[in-house]
Amino acid sequence: MATPFGIRRRLKRLFGIPLDGAGAAAAEAPKVSLTVVSPKGEQATESVPESTLLAISGRMKHPISSGCSDSSCGTCRVEVLEGAENLTAQDARERGTLKDNGFPTTLRLACRAELVGGAAKVKAFEVV
Ligand code: FES
Repeated sequence: MATPFGIRRRLKRLFGIPLDGAGAAAAEAPKVSLTVVSPKGEQATESVPESTLLAISGRMKHPISSGCSDSSCGTCRVEVLEGAENLTAQDARERGTLKDNGFPTTLRLACRAELVGGAAKVKAFEVV
């Protein structure tokens, strides 16, 4: 039932309640699976809708560390162990940050790389 000015829809958005049909769509959205290996060798896996590696790891007990909000520090660098083909391509900004911070450009920045399908396994150099 429609309400004047979309009040019901606005309230649902405000309180994070799924919109009619949106909850079902989100539940059916394809999920990706990320495994993070910590510097101590501990592994954690999360299966969620596609996102950046950093955002996915944020749901884990020990997420990948981050140090900036503009992809410039390299703190979130990871080594991709499996599933590189499931990540978005590395762009010039990401390569530049790795190079400027003295890291190999074969690494990926968890705040830039998105897992867009399937699964991936990465080794983090720093975790929270
Ligand atoms: S958090 Fe700084 S480069 Fe990713």
